[in-house]
Amino acid sequence: MLENSLIQRVSVAGMMMIEKIRNMEYLKLLGAGAVTVAAVTTTTFYYLTSRPQPVLLPVDLEDQTDEVDKIERSRMSKICKNGKYICEFEDGEVQTLHDAFKHGARVSSNGKVYGWKASPTEPYQWISYNDVLVRAANIGAGLIAKGLQPENTTNVGIYSQNRVEYGITEQACFMYSMVLVPLYDTLGPEACTHIINQAEIKTVICDKNVKVNAILDKINETPNLKIVILVEEPTSEIKKRAASHSIDLLTYSELEALGEQKPQEPKPAKPDDLCVLCYTSGTTGLPKGAMLTHRGTLATVVAAATVLKPGGVDISPEDTLISYLPLAHSYERLLESYCVLSGARIGFFQGDVKLLMDDIKELQPTLFPSVPRLLNRVYDKVMNQINEGSSIKRKLFNMAIASKENELKRNIIRKDSIWDKVVFKKIQASLGGKVKLITTGSAPLSPKVLHFLRCCVGCPIIEGYGQTESHAICTVTLVGDPDTGNVGPPLPCCEIKLADVEDMNYYAKDNKGEVCIKGPNVFLGYYRDPAKTEEALDKDGWLHTGDIGQWLENGTLKIIDRKKNIFKLAQGEYIAPEKIENVYVRSQLVAQVFIHGESLKSCLVGVVVPDPEVLPNWAKTKLNVSQSMEELCSNPDVKKEILADMTKIGKTGGLHSFEQVKDIFLYPELFSVENGLLTPTFKTKRHELKVKFQSQIAEMYTNLV
Ligand SMILES: *[C@@H]1O[C@H](CO)[C@@H](O)[C@H](O)[C@H]1NC(C)=O
Ligand SMILES: *[C@@H]1O[C@H](CO)[C@@H](O)[C@H](O)[C@H]1NC(C)=O
Ligand SMILES: *[C@@H]1O[C@H](CO)[C@@H](O)[C@H](O)[C@H]1NC(C)=O
Repeated sequence: MLENSLIQRVSVAGMMMIEKIRNMEYLKLLGAGAVTVAAVTTTTFYYLTSRPQPVLLPVDLEDQTDEVDKIERSRMSKICKNGKYICEFEDGEVQTLHDAFKHGARVSSNGKVYGWKASPTEPYQWISYNDVLVRAANIGAGLIAKGLQPENTTNVGIYSQNRVEYGITEQACFMYSMVLVPLYDTLGPEACTHIINQAEIKTVICDKNVKVNAILDKINETPNLKIVILVEEPTSEIKKRAASHSIDLLTYSELEALGEQKPQEPKPAKPDDLCVLCYTSGTTGLPKGAMLTHRGTLATVVAAATVLKPGGVDISPEDTLISYLPLAHSYERLLESYCVLSGARIGFFQGDVKLLMDDIKELQPTLFPSVPRLLNRVYDKVMNQINEGSSIKRKLFNMAIASKENELKRNIIRKDSIWDKVVFKKIQASLGGKVKLITTGSAPLSPKVLHFLRCCVGCPIIEGYGQTESHAICTVTLVGDPDTGNVGPPLPCCEIKLADVEDMNYYAKDNKGEVCIKGPNVFLGYYRDPAKTEEALDKDGWLHTGDIGQWLENGTLKIIDRKKNIFKLAQGEYIAPEKIENVYVRSQLVAQVFIHGESLKSCLVGVVVPDPEVLPNWAKTKLNVSQSMEELCSNPDVKKEILADMTKIGKTGGLHSFEQVKDIFLYPELFSVENGLLTPTFKTKRHELKVKFQSQIAEMYTNLV
C-alpha cells in the first residue's frame, strides 16, 4: 500500500546519477580489455593443486525460514532461535548511532573514518574517528549557540552531496539529540519547500552556493528558515542575496569556531529518538517523511551483520567503503552506519561521476554498494567484449564461466583461481582489486546478470529487498547462496507475512500475498501525516509494502508483483501506467490503451485498441488502404503511424521519455465488461490484460532488445 515502494525506493537520486554514469569513463574502463587471454598450459595443474573452501552457511539453503505464527503464517529467518528477533548489539553497549561511532573509534583504535580528495591530483586525505567527534561537538555547540535546542524535536536540514562535513553534521545531530533531514535535488524545489515547512526547519546546511541559491529562490514560502550554513566559501552575490532576505548566512568553519568558543555538554539522542527524517518521493503528491530511529537503524545493522558474518564477510577497521550513492537515501545510510559501527573507513567520491572510476582505483574499496543499473552496464560491456572477440577468447571465457559456475554451486567464492588470474583479472581490477562484498538493491537485478557477475567478480554479491520504511532492507540473500531470482529470507530483526489480496487472486494459503513486515526495523510512521501512516502501518504493527511476494519451497521470498498500479522500471524510474494511458487516449486514433512495464525491463510497451470510428477512414486518406479493423491492426504501417502519433501526443502531454511506450500491439476488439477486461465500473482489469496479452508482450520485448 505504500505508494511507491516496489523493491526499495531508497535510491532515486542514485539512479539519476547512474543514468549519467552510463556513457562515461566508468564503462570504458570496465570494458577496456575485460578479457585477457593467456596460455592455458599451466591451468590444469594450478587448478588441481588449489583447494578452495566453501563458504560456511548459517542455515541450510534448502530450508531458510520457519513459520513462527500459525494463524498469520508469518516467517522468520532460521538464524533466529525461539522466534526471537536478533536486533541488539552484543552487550547493549551500543544503542544509538552516537554510541556506534564511539564504538568504531574504539575498535579501530581511533583509526581513519572519512576520506576525501581535495582535488583530482591530490591523494585521499583522512580524518580520524576522534577528530570527527571533536568537530561534531563544535558543530553541535555552534548550532546551539545559534539558538537551536538540543531536543529530539529539532530538525536540521542538510542539502549536500556525500562528503566529510555530511558525516560530521550527522554526528553533531546525534550528539545533541537533533534530527537530520536530508534535502536533495531530485525532489524538486516544491518538495524541498514542503519539507522545510512540514519539518519546521530553521537551519539548513548546504555544500555549495548553488544549493543556497535554490533555497533563496523559494525563501518567501519558507518563513521559518532563518539560518543557512555553507561549506564552500560564499560568493559575494550569495552574501548579498541572503542579507536581503534577512537570512543568517555563515560558513561551516565559522559555525565550528563559534561552537569551539561556546562548548556544550553533549546530550546524546536516546535509542527511540528519531535519527533521520527520510523523505521519500512518490510518483504523485508531496514526499512523505519516514521517521527512522536509532534503534531501528541499529537493529537492521546488527541483523545484517549476523547474516554476513558466518559467510566470512565481517566488516572491520580493515575495510573501506566507496561512498557515492546518495546519503539522502536509507540504503547508503544503512551501509555507512554499519561501517562506522565496525570502525571501517568511508571514502567519498569527488562528487563527479566522471571521476568515480579514478576514485575507486585509488581508494581500492573492499565494500562496493551498487544498483542494478550499474551492474547491467557492466554486464553489457563485458558481453560486448566477449562477442566481439575471437572465437578462442569466447571459448576460453565460457570455460572460465563454467568452472566458476561449478564452484558457485558448491558455495565456493574466490578470486585466486587460474581463471581469475587469466580471464577475470581486468574486471576485478576495474573495481580497485580488493572488493570483498558487492551489495545490490533499490530495484530488482535480473537473475542472468547476477549469476554472470557472481562468476566474474570473485566476491559475494548479495541482493537486498526493502524500503525506507523498513530502514532500507528487510530481506537479504545469504552469502554463498548461488541461487538467483529470490531476495533471500527475512533479516533476523523482523518477521514477514504475506497478506491475502483477493482482487488479484493472491492468497496466503498459497504462499502468495502482500509482503507485510513486523519488527524493530519497521519505521514509526510518516512525520505529521497520520492518514498516510495508517495506510502503511496497521494497528498490529505490520508494515504493508504494496509488493506482492511468494514464499519459495526453501523459505526464501520472491517478489512477483505490485499491488497498486505503480511500478519501477529497471533503471529505477517510477511508472504510473494510468497516468500515461490517460495521456495516450488523447490521440484520435486510440480508443483504449493498456500500458505494461516490468521491473526487469527498461522500457514500456502497450496494447492499443484503435478507435473503430476513426481508423478506417483515416487509413484510407492517409495510407490509401481500405481494410477491416482486423487487417488494419496487423498492418505494420498502421502500427507505425499510431505509435508515432502516440509519441507526439505523449510529448506534448508532458510524458518523460521513459514513460513513452517503445512498441505497441494493436488489438481490434474493445476491452469490455463482457470480455472480462473491464470491471463493472469500467476500470481496466490490469491483471487480466497482462495474462491475456502475455505472448504479445513477450514478443514485443524480444524484438526491442
Ligand atoms: C529454492 O527454491 C527455488 C524454487 O523452488 C529453486 O528454484 C531454487 O533452486 C532453490 N534454491 C536452493 C538454494 O535450494
Ligand atoms: C522525544 O523524547 C521524549 C522524552 O524522552 C519522548 O517522550 C518522545 O517520544 C521523543 N520524541 C521523538 C519524536 O523522538
Ligand atoms: C491507392 O491504391 C490503389 C489500389 O492499390 C491504387 O490504384 C491507387 O493508385 C492508389 N492511390 C494513390 C493516391 O496512391
